Amino acid sequence: MSGTNLLSVADLGADGIEEVLRVTDSFVEVSARAIPRVPALRGRTVVSLFYECSTRTRLSFETAAKRLSADTMNFTVTTSSTTKGESLRDTVETIDAMGIDAVVVRHSAAGVPWQIAGWTEASVINAGDGWHEHPTQALLDCYTIRQCHKSTGRQSLAGLRIAVVGDVKHSRVARSGVLAFTALGAEVTLVAPRTLLPPSAESWPVDLSHDLDAVLPKVDVVYLLRLQNERMTEALIPTLREYTSGYGLTRRRAALLQEDALVMHPGPLNRGVEVATEVADLPRSVITQQVSNGVAVRMAVLYLLLAGGAGSQSGDHPVA
Ligand code: NCD
Repeated sequence: MSGTNLLSVADLGADGIEEVLRVTDSFVEVSARAIPRVPALRGRTVVSLFYECSTRTRLSFETAAKRLSADTMNFTVTTSSTTKGESLRDTVETIDAMGIDAVVVRHSAAGVPWQIAGWTEASVINAGDGWHEHPTQALLDCYTIRQCHKSTGRQSLAGLRIAVVGDVKHSRVARSGVLAFTALGAEVTLVAPRTLLPPSAESWPVDLSHDLDAVLPKVDVVYLLRLQNERMTEALIPTLREYTSGYGLTRRRAALLQEDALVMHPGPLNRGVEVATEVADLPRSVITQQVSNGVAVRMAVLYLLLAGGAGSQSGDHPVA
């Protein structure tokens, strides 16, 4: 992985993605140990700077940093000086002055991780910026797809057909996912009502469809997106019931999938809206596997960004 930050999937390219996935294999092995901890980042400090709500991404990064023996600091907007009017820049410079090695940032505004990278020497990792990008989600999704298809002898995503379904317009997961899946050679179809597709989707390297029933039998992976009501400033769908009847993965629709097709979702789920409860809990649904792999992928990212610098045990095998 070149560079000191992970801001966009585009920073990685296919080789960078493959490198992260390769290193992740080692950390999946570490995570399965009785004591899932290695000393690779001892003495390093990783700060989580989350200006938006999060359950899995935040806990996943924190767990990843701890399993690498890094020290962790946690910033929560509601209990910080942000409530007293402190600016983002002052907050970053304050934390920076304490001596940190990485900042994991989530913010509702697109581009904030790039701004922060201009204010600190520490590595900046984008954990979701507005509707824009969420690179580690895309990496853990690629890893999960590859892991599930290994049993069928496939080593890569090349030629796999992936349908990304639902609220693409507001989804940073979709933007990073499309970049990563297509970089690895997968064929992506976005399936959504017109109102939930961004106008720019016309120029993405994907097919577009409004007919989920027609797409499902042809795909290896169906990747469902949450309807992001908190980001909708206008009524983009008539009712939830109509959305589900057109684009929800109901039990009837799941029966259209090929036998070994995977069902994925970044979480949090709106059960009964984009996915029926009984479908989310089917063995072909790998949603919890995505979460488990998220920790190992984030260990790999932290390791690749931080283990090479001065004072590190660079050259050591990551899992020694
Ligand atoms: C996503 C996010 O916050 O971008 N969740 C996640 O990080 N796993 C997707 C979402 O909120 O729907």
